[in-house]
Amino acid sequence: MPSLIVGNWKMNGLGDDVAEIAAMAGGNTGRAQLWVAPPFTLIDRAVIVSAGQIRIGGQDCHGAQAGAHTGCVSAMMLADLGAHFVIVGHSERRADCGESDADVRAKAGAAHAAGLEVILCVGETAVQRSEGQADAVVAGQLAGSLPDSAEGLIIAYEPVWAIGTGTVPTPDDVAAMHAVVRGALTARYGASGHGVRILYGGSVKPDNAAALLGAADVGGALVGGASLTAASLLAIAAAAG
Ligand code: PGA
Repeated sequence: MPSLIVGNWKMNGLGDDVAEIAAMAGGNTGRAQLWVAPPFTLIDRAVIVSAGQIRIGGQDCHGAQAGAHTGCVSAMMLADLGAHFVIVGHSERRADCGESDADVRAKAGAAHAAGLEVILCVGETAVQRSEGQADAVVAGQLAGSLPDSAEGLIIAYEPVWAIGTGTVPTPDDVAAMHAVVRGALTARYGASGHGVRILYGGSVKPDNAAALLGAADVGGALVGGASLTAASLLAIAAAAG
């Protein structure tokens, strides 16, 4: 199965930057699958320029399908724009917006109901790792946030201390945590838990991608800073192939 490389643009990107998504679509060799989550404001334009070569998604959605939630965006609205997937539970949203595991579970369920694939993020902080709590934290996040269905579900293991820092875990540490995630998935979903892809995220760059993606049970990467230009994301995709 080819690796899945997902770009998360976070709160970056104006109209002109859609040209990068067009360049990603044009340069995609197909050795890795490429997905990109631009900000909400660029999704419709990104869908058009991606020309079916790249799947476009959202970085968040609300846990309800519609209603009195000023400023929020529903999963159905994303699907209506042509989005294919949505990221839920990113650590920046857990920290900035106080999202709980129950919130994340509701968002994942709403996304599935709207026909979107879900990338559900989990990961421990530096303090939790230094206290030996990393496995328990990640298992607890999964227990509280996994949706009812394993279909259309992808997990992203993103240690908080690796996001945007340039510091990455060793491939062995990544493999060990992916084994914990896999165990939680099969405990929850039975045999279907084997089919859920697990991504690694946190400071993935062209020069470390091959080592991180080569770790056991790493199905791809969730990439922040290095996903903002086509040159960089395509270099990661090439390393994945
Ligand atoms: P980073 O972000 O690649 O800039 O570390 C990853 C993420 O937050 O998904």
